[in-house]
Amino acid sequence: MYNIFCLAIRMFYFFCCLYLLFKEFKQNLLACTYYLRLILIFAPKFYHQTKNIKMKVTVVGAGAVGATVADNIARKELCHELVLLDIKEGLAEGKAMDMMQMSSVLGFDTKITGSTNDYSKTAGSDVVVITSGIPRKPGMSREDLIGTNAGIVKGVAENILQHSPDAIFVIISNPMDTMTYLTLKATGLPKNRVIGMGGALDSSRFKFYLSKALNCSQNDLNAVVIGGHGDTTMIPLTRLATLNSNPVSNLLDAETLKKVAADTMVGGATLTGLIGTSAWYAPGSSALSVVESILRDEKKVITSCVLLEGEYGQSDICLGVPVVIGKNGWEKIIDYKLNEEEQASFNKSAEAVRGMNEVLNTLAV
Ligand SMILES: NC(=O)c1ccc[n+]([C@@H]2O[C@H](COP(=O)([O-])OP(=O)(O)OC[C@H]3O[C@@H](n4cnc5c(N)ncnc54)[C@H](O)[C@@H]3O)[C@@H](O)[C@H]2O)c1
Repeated sequence: MYNIFCLAIRMFYFFCCLYLLFKEFKQNLLACTYYLRLILIFAPKFYHQTKNIKMKVTVVGAGAVGATVADNIARKELCHELVLLDIKEGLAEGKAMDMMQMSSVLGFDTKITGSTNDYSKTAGSDVVVITSGIPRKPGMSREDLIGTNAGIVKGVAENILQHSPDAIFVIISNPMDTMTYLTLKATGLPKNRVIGMGGALDSSRFKFYLSKALNCSQNDLNAVVIGGHGDTTMIPLTRLATLNSNPVSNLLDAETLKKVAADTMVGGATLTGLIGTSAWYAPGSSALSVVESILRDEKKVITSCVLLEGEYGQSDICLGVPVVIGKNGWEKIIDYKLNEEEQASFNKSAEAVRGMNEVLNTLAV
């Protein structure tokens, strides 16, 4: 309500300035520039408010990753309304209330509510992020989670769809490639509305290890990881990685590059070993980058897990490839023109993920 009131005031102010600008135009050039300046000051805020005023996001799973995504979304005011849902009594309500108590401190206006398994509260969501399920413990692979998480993710996706038929789904729960495939099949949604998040995180870990080897800023690097989101299925594309357009292969020897790629691939397992459970800060902010690109229609290229229909030589599988992400979900797959060796790794990765997808047939989901 407060947001709508502010928006109305801003609109009124904006159009008054516009009116005065045209009225004065012929008579007083100085006043005219003054009004123009006022418009320019307020236009960005007005644009921002208008764009996100009615957006609603639901995050399912109020655990470590879910709460971090929600926190990031609220801080950036990417939507007007944010619902956190969890099966554990009171958890989502408690975390939502805790986050709302940062609102005046941090100055954001997103309204966050929590719900214990009441899907009616999620109705009309534009974007739904699914993080529900168990995380891995030290020594476990992401694939070990399939038996528990498949049933959870399928049930959640079906419940969400009943109340938000137009939502774009962002899947985080592991094993993410198979959970994305499962969501697509279980919901029958158009392919562009189901996006698995894994490549954004793996690419950020790739940049982290590259920056350590190069002693450079992560922000000067361009580096992506494609393929499956698993310790043995992800493919850090070292050949295409650059530091300010300079290929990193010009700067690091082959041995070091190989170590960077190997560290990247077990980046998640390294953290699980240290923390005792799955990481959440980088996963949460990587998920944010996908949600932000959708809600702001940024058209960013983010490696994400999407349905392939012949692209990269694979079909009937969800796997990580660079895609353009905007208001329609994933909008286009970018062809990186893999060399023979990279394509062979991609095919091997697809084979492993396909094997995992087949496990779904043996589960009662
Ligand atoms: N894709 C990625 O890059 C990535 C990165 C990190 C973690 N993950 C995965 O994300 C998932 C969540 O990780 P986490 O660390 O937040 O775990 P967590 O245990 O902290 O949180 C999971 C939450 O899901 C809830 N939940 C379980 N079943 C539910 C259901 N049916 N409905 C609603 N909520 C339900 C639990 O109560 C719990 O609060 C795990 O599967 C983990 O492996 C993926």
